[in-house]
Amino acid sequence: MVAHRGASGHKPEHTLAAYELALEQGADGLECDVRLTADHELVCVHDRTIDRTSDGTGAVSELTLAQLREYNFGGWHTSGLDAQVLTLRELLELTLDWKRPVRLFIETKHPVRFGGLVEQLLLAELQRFGVATPASADHSRAVVISFSTAGVWRIRRNAPMLPTVLLGDTARFLGGSAATAVGATAIGPSITTLREHPDAVDRAAAAGRATYCWTVDERRDATYCADLGVGWIATNYPDRVLGWLAA
Ligand code: G3P
Ligand code: CA
Repeated sequence: MVAHRGASGHKPEHTLAAYELALEQGADGLECDVRLTADHELVCVHDRTIDRTSDGTGAVSELTLAQLREYNFGGWHTSGLDAQVLTLRELLELTLDWKRPVRLFIETKHPVRFGGLVEQLLLAELQRFGVATPASADHSRAVVISFSTAGVWRIRRNAPMLPTVLLGDTARFLGGSAATAVGATAIGPSITTLREHPDAVDRAAAAGRATYCWTVDERRDATYCADLGVGWIATNYPDRVLGWLAA
């Protein structure tokens, strides 16, 4: 079970507090979105700008890490938390130091416009932590996920042992040709699309691919995914999903 942006149903998304809570609640996977700052640091922010999730404004790509650190990324949330922007490095430290093995699902947001720089910096960061060349995809502590075929393809070309999820949300996508073309090890449809195409999980498995489904916050959807054999269920409420699936 993958905590989507951390336990983001309870704490402000992409903050250390959200990820720590997800781990305490028993998540065995964490999802984060990464974007490049003006000074080429990878930070965990979903939107193009910081307007929604901080007390600052502006595009992540036009702000330095030092500038981003001046803003509060927790105050917008009902929890009223104070939180600094989280870097990918800080999240990797938390994930890899946790008391049980946890996988980090790193989503590259719109990497194409940076011409491969996002993937290059991401792989350098994974190398720094010794997790860029796992013995097998099954043993990998990092998974790179993206809606970008170019983004997935660059990871496969430069780090062939790293598992990858090609995200997508159309019937055509579920046909698997794009995933095959870029060598993705898994497909990642939304729960809405998977509801319309329940055979997608078996078809992916027949092609040797796992399925990652987002974002599953309802009990009936969680049990639906489990019954279909979805490998990774991403949710904003790890506590709830773990409870439902254990019942
Ligand atoms: O985990 C995949 C999912 O996060 C994709 O959608 O918009 O939440 O990044 P989004
Ligand atoms: Ca995401």
